[in-house]
Amino acid sequence: MSLLLGIETSCDETAAAIVENGVHIRSNVVASQIELHAQYGGVFPEMASREHVLKTVPVVERALADGRADWSDLDAIAVTYGPGLAGSLLVGVNTAKGLALARELPLIGVNHLEGHIYASWLDGTGEPAPEFPLLCLIVSGGHTELVLMRGHGAYELLGATRDDAAGEAFDKVARLLGLGYPGGPAIQKAAEQGDARVPASRQKLPRAWLEGSYDFSFSGLKTAVLRLVNGAEGRLSAPDIAAAFQEAVVDVLVEKTRLAAEQFGVRQVLIGGGVAANKLLREQMRARLPVPVHIPPIALCTDNAAVIASAGFFHFASGERSGWDLDVVPGLRLVNL
Ligand code: KG4
Ligand code: ZN
Repeated sequence: MSLLLGIETSCDETAAAIVENGVHIRSNVVASQIELHAQYGGVFPEMASREHVLKTVPVVERALADGRADWSDLDAIAVTYGPGLAGSLLVGVNTAKGLALARELPLIGVNHLEGHIYASWLDGTGEPAPEFPLLCLIVSGGHTELVLMRGHGAYELLGATRDDAAGEAFDKVARLLGLGYPGGPAIQKAAEQGDARVPASRQKLPRAWLEGSYDFSFSGLKTAVLRLVNGAEGRLSAPDIAAAFQEAVVDVLVEKTRLAAEQFGVRQVLIGGGVAANKLLREQMRARLPVPVHIPPIALCTDNAAVIASAGFFHFASGERSGWDLDVVPGLRLVNL
């Protein structure tokens, strides 16, 4: 049995977790900074790294206590080294290095995007482990990526956003509609009271299909929402616009994933990242895809360290180790092992 401590501080959550064999969560502690950043309408990077400095050690201690684990029980420490905010990543990476050195444990640097993918390997979904080849849709505040995976660590990027990430579009549109931060949950809630088919919003919001490519684009949609907000003031409610917007984003995400699933003949589809918490996306993925769709529980879609420990375990099991020169890479992309 291998027991890993995972540490994640790439953005605005300070997180630590204890995971057995990459699949069984013993503890998963997340200290969210959402309230702190809400007053600025988005993540304030300098504040985020200062909070991480204050929270990382207590969060690691909590994870060990909740997971009934002692330092001597651990086999390795996995930590996110990118992509993310440089100052935030630095706190996690340096804490992990210090702890690994002091406790004589191997250090495993993990790509945050891999963490979102490996959420599907953690138990708690009641579903069997994913089978290759598979397709992953990673949709978060910073990423919208469609990835073909033929084995552990074997990634082929099929497409990505050319402008805003899906979650970023949710956050920006929520701001336009005065719904607050973070935008994803606010839009989802407002949309429940709205109707995507009311006549005015049926001047359908545009879908950027970018024919012949698996890339995405959401900036035109944001502009179209702005036109609806300005043009139909007083007639179109924020809930109706939120519903039409959410439907447009989900439609493109699901349709492109469906096309890729067919073209590459995958056995299943995984989704991950904060936007994978979206109810309509979860429903539509299950309804429209030709293969089984693995959808992690919501707490494992948004940023947390259990998914980092899980991804780290598969690197650890293949003999990979990071050196003491491991550095943060804010613009890190998905790379093959
Ligand atoms: O993965 P995540 O926690 O952090 C990043 O790595 O970016 O994703 C955060 C993003 C935010 O943009 C947030 O608005 C979005 O995920 N999000 C949602 C929902 N919950 C969170 N978007 C749509 N619907 C939701 N229910
Ligand atoms: Zn994330």
